[in-house]
Amino acid sequence: MKTTLSQTNNTDELRTLYHGGYLSGKVRVPGDKSISHRALLFGAISEGITRIEGLLPAEDPISTAACLNAMGVKISPINEDKIVEVIGVGLDGLEEPKEILDCGNSGTTMRLMLGLLVGRENRHFVLTGDQSLKQRPMRRVSQPLKLMGGKINGRSNGNLAPLSVTGNKLHGAVIGTPVASAQIKSAILLAALTAEGGTSVIEPARSRDHSERMLKAFGANIEVGGEMGRHIKVWPGSKLKGQTIIVPGDISSAAFWLIGASLIPGSTLTVENVGLNPTRTGILEVMRQMGADFQLLNMRDIAGEPIGDIKVTQKEQLKPFSIDGEIMARLIDEVPILTVAACFCNGISKIRGASELRVKETDRLTVMTRQLTAMGAKIEEHDDGLTITGGAQLHGAALDSETDHRIAMSLAVASIMADSTSTMIRSNSAAVSYPRFWEELSRLHN
Ligand code: S3P
Repeated sequence: MKTTLSQTNNTDELRTLYHGGYLSGKVRVPGDKSISHRALLFGAISEGITRIEGLLPAEDPISTAACLNAMGVKISPINEDKIVEVIGVGLDGLEEPKEILDCGNSGTTMRLMLGLLVGRENRHFVLTGDQSLKQRPMRRVSQPLKLMGGKINGRSNGNLAPLSVTGNKLHGAVIGTPVASAQIKSAILLAALTAEGGTSVIEPARSRDHSERMLKAFGANIEVGGEMGRHIKVWPGSKLKGQTIIVPGDISSAAFWLIGASLIPGSTLTVENVGLNPTRTGILEVMRQMGADFQLLNMRDIAGEPIGDIKVTQKEQLKPFSIDGEIMARLIDEVPILTVAACFCNGISKIRGASELRVKETDRLTVMTRQLTAMGAKIEEHDDGLTITGGAQLHGAALDSETDHRIAMSLAVASIMADSTSTMIRSNSAAVSYPRFWEELSRLHN
């Protein structure tokens, strides 16, 4: 059964989403978005060639590649199934760009670029992005970078893009970050590579550690310590050397299939080649809380990251769940699809400590509440989370991704569980992290 039918007018793609049916088969999710950005960035400032296998060919990493390109870094075309080669320019080789650097919709691009560029002496950079990115807070990155001697200006007292960076000599610092954010941490680590003296970052909870793992592999002098790896120290002076990076499938993209197959009656699905880095697997812990039926298969380690396949079978009577505190950093991007899951659990689920969701591509707490409520879900919104009463029948509705990729894909799963057909505008936003999502949904939905 064909499940989605696209009526496209290019920018604001309208889709029809058919309810009913089940998910089955095997799916290989595209490359991890966080690892893809970092492979491009670290490759750019290394000496020699970095070869990246499985790089995510989606809008966000393409924004990172375009910015690097504008600073003289040669990157081979980013196509599905092609190894991407980055010709490194060395730690101080980035050229002053003649144009404004456009980060598109990508918060990771903008925040990591700030860290990368702030220490480039005698060079000036201007960064901007789309409407969503221009509303996202950047002070959380510019402020710690200023403590290291960085010069960053922008709208709203340096908080909002467009931002200008005047490259400056940096000095090491000890920086405690107020939120567990891998973007803040990674920006500081990138700046630390060219600062004078060592830099320490101390996080309130451990965020994803792809930067630490990959910087070490590229030859940076970096040490991870402290309770639960929350204390990271970098010393400058080591040259980075080009590497071969194999990018695992993105667990944040796998999440839509994992939850979809857990909920949709009659489903059995295997998601292959999923990155299982322990700083990213919070969703599996929640699926255990829910009593979901899944198995990890074919576990292996590839290029320093744990990987496996996940087989999921639908389960009746899923239990409600509660999440709060340090687990949040390990499932931050999965909250929208977990909100959908909660609508079908047998009782009241609670999501707390999730105020970071308000500063993602959209305010995901408000947007998920608005869209799912239109379908008949029972959700109460709080400053830092949601309370979801499971069990209400969802109805087909006129949905809107509100330009957010993870909202689009979460609502796609919800629409299959509804009792009638839905439509979705701006469904094309899925391409920010999962360009073939709709095609794959048509293939897996029977
Ligand atoms: C990312 C970190 C997370 C996540 C984002 C990607 C990264 O953001 O939400 O999608 O690659 O570092 P925060 O670090 O701001 O929580």
